[in-house]
Amino acid sequence: MHTVKDFDFLVIGSGIAGLVYALEVSKLGKVAVVTKRSLYDCNTDYAQGGIAAVLDEADSFEHHLRDTYIAGAELGKKQVIERVIKEGPKLIQYLIDLGTDFTRLDNSYDKRLENLSLTREGGHSHRRVAYAADSTGHQIMEALIHNCRINGNIEIYENRIAIDLITQHHIPQAEGFLPGITCWGAYILDTTTNQVDIFRARKTMMATGGAAQIYSHNTNPDIATGDGMAMARLAGARLANMEFVQFHPTAFWSPDGETFLISEAVRGEGAILRLTDGSTFMERYHELGNLAPRDIVSRAIDAELKRRGEKYCWLDARDIDHDVLRRHFPYIDGRLREYGIDFTKDPIPVAPAAHYFCGGVLSTIDGLTDIRNLFAAGEVACTGLHGANRLASNSLLEALVVAWHAAKHPSNSEPVDFPPIPPWHQLEDFNENEWVIISHNREILGTIMHGYVGIRRSRRLLKYALSRLENIYNEVNNFYQHNAVRKEVVETRNMAVVALAVIRSALMRKESRGAHFLIDAPERDDLKYKLDTII
Ligand code: FAD
Ligand code: SIN
Repeated sequence: MHTVKDFDFLVIGSGIAGLVYALEVSKLGKVAVVTKRSLYDCNTDYAQGGIAAVLDEADSFEHHLRDTYIAGAELGKKQVIERVIKEGPKLIQYLIDLGTDFTRLDNSYDKRLENLSLTREGGHSHRRVAYAADSTGHQIMEALIHNCRINGNIEIYENRIAIDLITQHHIPQAEGFLPGITCWGAYILDTTTNQVDIFRARKTMMATGGAAQIYSHNTNPDIATGDGMAMARLAGARLANMEFVQFHPTAFWSPDGETFLISEAVRGEGAILRLTDGSTFMERYHELGNLAPRDIVSRAIDAELKRRGEKYCWLDARDIDHDVLRRHFPYIDGRLREYGIDFTKDPIPVAPAAHYFCGGVLSTIDGLTDIRNLFAAGEVACTGLHGANRLASNSLLEALVVAWHAAKHPSNSEPVDFPPIPPWHQLEDFNENEWVIISHNREILGTIMHGYVGIRRSRRLLKYALSRLENIYNEVNNFYQHNAVRKEVVETRNMAVVALAVIRSALMRKESRGAHFLIDAPERDDLKYKLDTII
């Protein structure tokens, strides 16, 4: 049994991109928000450092633009960067008006932008990061979720995973219905009952976030399996710049492999990186030292650790005023205490971990994709803002601005004709005996990506990774084709699709730029490669 649910707008994902779009288009019609787990299970809720925008008189749009372009190794698109940056202040005020409780300069209720306290992160030439202690994302989520819950036009569906977009490839009789590919919603699996329903919608917003879970060592929550990138690709959309996987330099390191992020804002407030013998090293790698762009810091740590045969280095925050440290970073303080670490007295063991996808579904600043009626916004999308490496705290900003623009796009008001949509071809059998195909391949995939497609790459290792991932994809896809659909199977197949896109893109770029460093070609080659990698 399946049901068909009709909406004007289907939003897949409940992070900042999905909920901002949902709130804005709810003024035009009925909206469904579907999300894999609870509304809070998303990268947005984990965001620590803050959201970047020009909020200080001494700063300027030109400076933010320049910092973004330079951090992105000059691959970003200047028109996109300019538009996103110029919208920043207005839309941060929008988040405040929705109830986001950013840290302010004084304790008054003055909620004007002028009263925001600003912090600094790597690659920024000014203090321009608005934050809510070290739980910025959670504060934003509280405000967005509250406003969605009280909105009579928004229906929320938790524990639902979108398994496929509804396009011509599911509806043979819709071939020639319209030229090009059109999206009419998605097949959605209820993970509590394993029933697949049709969510039919005039417009679908893909706001499914990133894919750092394809790396065994990463900062992301479990949901970040690249579903949106895989679904869009399988439906015929282009992906761009997938080789640029950003590693965060300072993920907490522990012998048991447990990790969480130590915000770059800790370095912004004065913490420094040290090797385990106490010596500093970042001054040897970049003039901005500890606050160099993220790709440079991650690579420097990786090189030092490999040279010394060590697994972690220290982040030393002991010289920061202890009150400032505890007040600004209460979440990190609490997590470190679980491991017996007092960051006012002890250095913090850290190592780089996969963190953010600069590439994704090729889209415009309005969220338009190759597929008619399908928008994409947030980490799933590649608009051209980040280029080859994202400037810290520019991702919440991008998600906010693009989701907002998508919601204001005139096509949201257009009527849409629907072809008859067949139910999901649900198989009855599920081969428990072969479940190992999923569990085993999922684990191996992460290890291969970490070892062969990490911070420093070689073409030989990339080719080995490609052949192993092709096998993994074939095994997992075969299981997917012949068994009743399950969340873990869908996710693992999507992870393989995304991993293959990362490897193929990395093989196409025979130079080093931003987050893609190739040992065989360590220099940048503007003549040949100052262009997007398209899959
Ligand atoms: P997300 O917030 O990740 O939301 C994706 C949503 O899609 C989730 O609800 C998920 O459940 C849902 N979903 C996924 N697949 C499916 C599916 N198949 N079906 C249904 N639902 C699905 N950026 C900054 O700018 N500043 C920061 O300080 C910062 N700190 C960070 C700290 C950490 C630890 C991490 C992990 C990231 C940080 N980032 C930061 C990056 C930033 O948080 C993300 O890029 C951004 O929040 C992405 O927002 P989003 O709406 O695109 O996706
Ligand atoms: C952090 O707080 O270091 C994360 C910031 C980001 O990813 O933009």
